[in-house]
Amino acid sequence: MNVDGIAYRSIWINDDGWSIDAIDQTRLPHAFEVRNLQNLEDACIAIRDMVVRGAPLIGATAAYGYYLAMREDSSDAAMKNAYSRLFRTRPTAVNLRWSLDRLRDCLEPLTPGDRFERAFVEAGRIAELDVETNQSIGIHGLEVIKQIAAQKPSGESVNILTHCNAGWLATVDWGTATAPIYMAHDAGIPIHIWVDETRPRNQGAGLTTWELGHHGIPHTLIVDNLGGHLMQQGMVDLCLVGSDRTTRSGDVCNKVGTYLKALAAKDNAVPFYVCLPSTTIDWDISNGAQEVPIEQRDEAEVSQVMGKLPNGEIGHVKIAPDGTKVANYAFDVTPARLITGLITETAIVDPSAGNLAGTFPSTC
Ligand code: MRU
Repeated sequence: MNVDGIAYRSIWINDDGWSIDAIDQTRLPHAFEVRNLQNLEDACIAIRDMVVRGAPLIGATAAYGYYLAMREDSSDAAMKNAYSRLFRTRPTAVNLRWSLDRLRDCLEPLTPGDRFERAFVEAGRIAELDVETNQSIGIHGLEVIKQIAAQKPSGESVNILTHCNAGWLATVDWGTATAPIYMAHDAGIPIHIWVDETRPRNQGAGLTTWELGHHGIPHTLIVDNLGGHLMQQGMVDLCLVGSDRTTRSGDVCNKVGTYLKALAAKDNAVPFYVCLPSTTIDWDISNGAQEVPIEQRDEAEVSQVMGKLPNGEIGHVKIAPDGTKVANYAFDVTPARLITGLITETAIVDPSAGNLAGTFPSTC
């Protein structure tokens, strides 16, 4: 997508032809900086410290990290080491495991001498596949927006609420929840986006607003607790969110707070759709609330807020008394019964009927 007229992806191969560049999302929206990744350690740090984040981009970065590891040492032992180090960086987004399994299965039968070049090609394929997948999600999701637009008085905007950043920054390009949004806007359908700030790390306030602003999409930033009120007042036509892990029964684990939005949407008959690539489906589990590992993060994310200080520097401000006990669960699970539809690259699936396996028969 475009940043000041220049087309960017969130991750790409540096001009040197081998190292990897990624937009540093810890600096946005206040500074646009690019982080260069040259080895396994760089990739692990980038995922762990959320320089890159969002389930599909975590998967793509892990693939490039695996390739960088093979560049240094492509022995069997190095493969195991790369897998386990990358796997431990973030526990919830299942795309990480999907990418690592794909790299491992592809490289394991090869001799060590053939692994590095193949890893480069395969990591690139994973990145390209993500772009194509999100485009397909966009095409399916666009139909949902079109149907809602057709029911509104001519010229009136479709009001869409989104949570966290499931935008192009969370993927290689397009985003999942934002792919239909970008396509609707580009097709001339009037839309307006309610952007949840998404405490504690404020991915909505810092990243989604930045993306939408650079694409010229009308949007309004709201506190996380406002969504229910807006829905009661008829000010939300549609909720579109992403997923970090989807169970085979259609439960969706996404950024903490998604569940509460789904409850409010159900109570107010607002359609609640989740946009997800099939790479976020974990076929091994069916009960999201019981089985998805929920990442618990540093308490400083809750007791402090990061932002631009009056002197222009990026800094942290403490908002709770010293010593306050903090819980920081990064994700929650929305049960399938609260979800109107899962917008995948293949089709829009009704989750309540347990239809995912029928939609992706070869992968489950
Ligand atoms: O903690 P983050 O920023 O990695 O969480 C990201 C989300 O929860 C996104 O909504 C999810 O990964 C879907 S992104 C296409």
